[in-house]
Amino acid sequence: MSAHKKSDLKKVTTHQLQEMKNRGEKIAMLTAYDFSMARIIDGAGVDIILVGDSASNVMAGNETTLPITLDQMIYHASSVVKAVKRALVVVDIPFGYYQGSSGEALRSSIRIMKESGAHAVKLEGGSEVKDSVLRILSAGVPVMGHLGLTPQSIYKFGTYTVRAKEKEEAKKLIEDALLLQECGCFGIVLEKIPAELAKKVSSQLRIPTIGIGAGPDADGQVLVMQDMLGITKDFKPRFLRRYADLHSVITGAVNKYVSDVKGNEFPSQDEKY
Ligand code: KIV
Repeated sequence: MSAHKKSDLKKVTTHQLQEMKNRGEKIAMLTAYDFSMARIIDGAGVDIILVGDSASNVMAGNETTLPITLDQMIYHASSVVKAVKRALVVVDIPFGYYQGSSGEALRSSIRIMKESGAHAVKLEGGSEVKDSVLRILSAGVPVMGHLGLTPQSIYKFGTYTVRAKEKEEAKKLIEDALLLQECGCFGIVLEKIPAELAKKVSSQLRIPTIGIGAGPDADGQVLVMQDMLGITKDFKPRFLRRYADLHSVITGAVNKYVSDVKGNEFPSQDEKY
């Protein structure tokens, strides 16, 4: 049975996310990239669905998020939007489609909103992307920020280890978070930073923070769906809690199907016309 009665099915808005923070209600966010999975996780009550550029890893099999294109993100996002009845759908602007200029950032955001029907965009970075954030917001498109470990800059960092452990980087992260809030972002993802820093940022900000590997004091949490469902097997960071072992479930089901077909046990008399 769905987690929501029909009467509860009010669409989540950025305004409601702010109210959730104000009343201390945590925000649950997950990624999705296709119609079938988006339908399930929306029905199960997630507040925000992120069409993340992690699609580059978990859907396309790339090592990083860098190769995914804007057209591919729009394809994933439009499939998700068709499935979603309640959650707010946020779409990552992929690498190479906003860093050039604020005009490029605006054009990419407009394509995402127009062609997929999504509700908001997300982009990585702080002061470096200020002009882009302002330009996108000026067109009426809600923007979510992303600080800490920003996977589109992986070749600058060199590793996926915890960010902002040093004083200087932590100070810049707080300044960037305040700047993104001042610009008008409706929320900020904090990825892989010390829990104490996430707590400090979340208490200083009026807008909600959504943590991934950022401890329990962010205003919400996000995980990549394939990781939390145990579809991916070898990715085991400390922050990841697996809520299912779909890798084993799917493997078992497919093993059984193969043996049934080969043993002439499928289809049965009842499964034919
Ligand atoms: O692309 C993504 O899935 C993300 C989350 C990890 C926050 O940006």
